[in-house]
Amino acid sequence: STSGPLKVMISGAPASGKGTQCELIVKKFGLVHISTGDLLRAEVSAETEIGNKAKEFMNAGRLVPDEIVTAMVTARLSLKDAKEKGWLLDGYPRSSAQAESLEKLNVRPDIYVVLDVRKTMMLSLLMIMPDNDIAPLPMRVREKVPDEILIDRCVGRRLDPETGKIYHVKNFPPETEEIKARLITRPDDTEEKVKARLDIYKKNAEAILSTYSNIMVKIDGNRSKEVVFKEIDSLLSQVHRDEVKLVKSV
Ligand code: AP5
Repeated sequence: STSGPLKVMISGAPASGKGTQCELIVKKFGLVHISTGDLLRAEVSAETEIGNKAKEFMNAGRLVPDEIVTAMVTARLSLKDAKEKGWLLDGYPRSSAQAESLEKLNVRPDIYVVLDVRKTMMLSLLMIMPDNDIAPLPMRVREKVPDEILIDRCVGRRLDPETGKIYHVKNFPPETEEIKARLITRPDDTEEKVKARLDIYKKNAEAILSTYSNIMVKIDGNRSKEVVFKEIDSLLSQVHRDEVKLVKSV
């Protein structure tokens, strides 16, 4: 092979937009998308031994035990297509033990992308005065806090079981009535379960970051999916170019 294929990890809170961005990344870069959530949901619906074990944890919004998920991911990463085309790992590692498992196997990404929706903003409003003077009146407007945005995104999420495409009742409604009729809701997308998933994410995020701090890039995920993708696209293109250069100069 000429240049090493691109290896990407993407992480972020539940509903930060990982799956949505992965669809776009795969389309452009042709990487093998390895989503532990998707792999586990497939095991659950096929009622395999792994699926039956994982189901109760997932439905409660808790993490599935490390040994189950780690075995699944390492098996998938070792397949030929992932080695040849490069990979996009989504939803793993999710604990420091999982990050250590990959380090031990010498599995490292070129870049660790974090979708960050946890920023607050201040808005200033312009108020039009009665005498037609426009006076700027800075006001603190209570915006939705990040957790509320994430909960809204989960509760409104719908999946197309035929194409795997991710929709949202308000943000990204389905294109046709036919698609709309077959959309499904994830059992862990209730407000209460999203809160549990968010808590777990907050507890683990820091510990995982320390493993990848030198290759980490944070991206503000609280913008349109096109704008978020544009930023990811230019980052990955840059990493890719650097690698090709490196190989040529050897
Ligand atoms: P997983 O499937 O990984 O769930 P998650 O991390 O909670 O992430 P989500 O899939 O909920 O969200 P997302 O970031 O992909 O957002 P999306 O693009 O869909 O894991 C599920 C469960 O599996 C876990 O709880 C655990 O039990 C188990 N599991 C998985 N990995 C594990 C591991 N490593 N170890 C142990 N257990 C594991 O977007 C969300 C919604 O927002 C959509 O409706 C979308 O249309 C909308 N949206 C997306 N982008 C935007 C935007 N820019 N603006 C407005 N709306 C947007």
